[in-house]
Amino acid sequence: MAVSSKFRRRLVLGLGLLLFACTEGPRSGNSLSETQPRAKDLFTTHCSSCHGAAGDLGVSGAKNLQKSKLKLQEIKQIIREGKNGMPSFDGIIEKENQLDSIAQYAKKMQH
Ligand code: HEC
Repeated sequence: MAVSSKFRRRLVLGLGLLLFACTEGPRSGNSLSETQPRAKDLFTTHCSSCHGAAGDLGVSGAKNLQKSKLKLQEIKQIIREGKNGMPSFDGIIEKENQLDSIAQYAKKMQH
């Protein structure tokens, strides 16, 4: 009993450290490592409240992104300008590379 609970505590501590090591990885770096992993975060922050994590939630009339046929440029334009129930993200997603990666992320949901 005593041994196993001690072991369990050590395991939990070990896992915690491992998790910490993973999330605290190098942040700076080249543009690839900066844009690609962030696309998901950006989508979660700005889009998934209506579209859902998989793009098919459809809150307040949000189009199903899996069924969308839009081209990358058209997606970018909608994000920038908004459309009907979808707000414009002009001034919210300010960096061009963020707009690019979020649009690519939405594009990848299509099938
Ligand atoms: C407040 C809810 C809301 C948020 C937040 C939102 N959308 Fe939308 N989105 C909508 C609605 C509503 C539509 C349907 C617009 C229309 O055509 O009438 C839409 C349509 C779209 C379309 C067009 C799909 C098609 O085939 O016509 C794309 C692409 C899209 N959204 C991407 C995004 C992305 C990327 C984000 C995050 C930057 C986002 N949306 C955030 C509500 C939202």
